[in-house]
Amino acid sequence: MACQYFAPCDHGATSFTIAIPKVTFGRGTLSEVGRRAQSLGMTEVALFTDGGLLDSRYMATVKQSLKASGIAFQIFSDIRIEPDDFCVEQGAAFIKSGNFDGMISVGGGSVIDTAKAAAVCAKHNSVLKPFFAKPIGESKPITEKLLPHIACPTTSGTGSECTSIAVVRLRDLDTKFVIASPLMLPDEAVIDPECCDTLPSNVIASTGFDLLSHALECYTAKAYTQWAPVENPNARQLIQGANPWSDLAATKALQIAGTYLDRAVNDTSDQEARDQLMWAASLAGMAFGNSGTHMPHALSYGVTHLMRDITTKDYDVKTPFVPHGVSVIVSAPACFRYTAEATPERHLEAAGFLQADQKGAGLEDAGEVLSKRMIELMQQTHMPNGLSGVGFGSADIKAMAASSVRQARAISNAPRESNLVDLENIYADAISYW
Ligand SMILES: [Fe+2]
Repeated sequence: MACQYFAPCDHGATSFTIAIPKVTFGRGTLSEVGRRAQSLGMTEVALFTDGGLLDSRYMATVKQSLKASGIAFQIFSDIRIEPDDFCVEQGAAFIKSGNFDGMISVGGGSVIDTAKAAAVCAKHNSVLKPFFAKPIGESKPITEKLLPHIACPTTSGTGSECTSIAVVRLRDLDTKFVIASPLMLPDEAVIDPECCDTLPSNVIASTGFDLLSHALECYTAKAYTQWAPVENPNARQLIQGANPWSDLAATKALQIAGTYLDRAVNDTSDQEARDQLMWAASLAGMAFGNSGTHMPHALSYGVTHLMRDITTKDYDVKTPFVPHGVSVIVSAPACFRYTAEATPERHLEAAGFLQADQKGAGLEDAGEVLSKRMIELMQQTHMPNGLSGVGFGSADIKAMAASSVRQARAISNAPRESNLVDLENIYADAISYW
């Protein structure tokens, strides 16, 4: 199967590149951060976190570890969920104000992404927007080696500690976009599952569906052999399509999510399930960080762009807010119904990894089998019922599609081509599932 999927295509890429940080995983590993920083030559560290974690025991462990290793640090914590370019540029000003030779981020995707993007701005002495791809930005190249970075995730979803991308909201367009460069990859990921012990079920569910969709999207992405080859190997984008490496990590992440997501959400004392999800999130990050996501993530940006009058339980935000994982999963089953037609074998295999009931199913049923299993998991974990569950109706479809169609690279990474009308039809199919 794998060989067939990655068969050479006329004028297609013949190679792929894998980049992951040094990964340390296990309970208690946050206490290793000081010695790990030392081995990277850090003597004075820019320590990124958010206000909610500032006085947490996780931050206390990291600070104690740095002190024990004789490493000075200053903290930047003015980071909100779903950071914007202003937040990133404040972070860059913080980096430039010090004499830092390293950077450590402790938090969810918002914190880690802010640290990555701030490092880009600080090193290139620039605001953020020019670094986004045209026509959003100027496709300004990231050329300078950034500060050494140790990323320490405190949620089990983003995988940002293992990727070379950051997602940032641009204020003047009020939409999130992806900035990517191999130079943004953290040097080390220190993943301590203890950080998820006290997360509310709602947060475990949202972040769990983020990781699940990362893995599904990279397993079903179009093959790397269908992207054009690059002339300069150093310029090869890591959003390069599915490849044997991303298959490997995504498969395991899906198997874990299929087994443990329900348990981790519905039994807050199930430490094994939460630990497994933390590992799956990092695996999914190592996978999609080297393949790219596709339609569910592209369509999630239309949701977060237009959300209003929505606040979500257990998230400390005062503005309208749909958690990232929820914004992805409300459209994902409809997306996979659409893309399955192009590569039904892959969609059926992915459904199998999630332990879907495939009795009597043929290739023509692939999209339905996969979406049915996803919907079952959504119901078991109390997710909103599609777009209507987060306040959207059919009157919003055109605006959401017009917003999401700008996510060109992700949409091109899907196995099936789509236009604006196709996106509208997918959103219509995602209004409610049960
Ligand atoms: Fe995501």
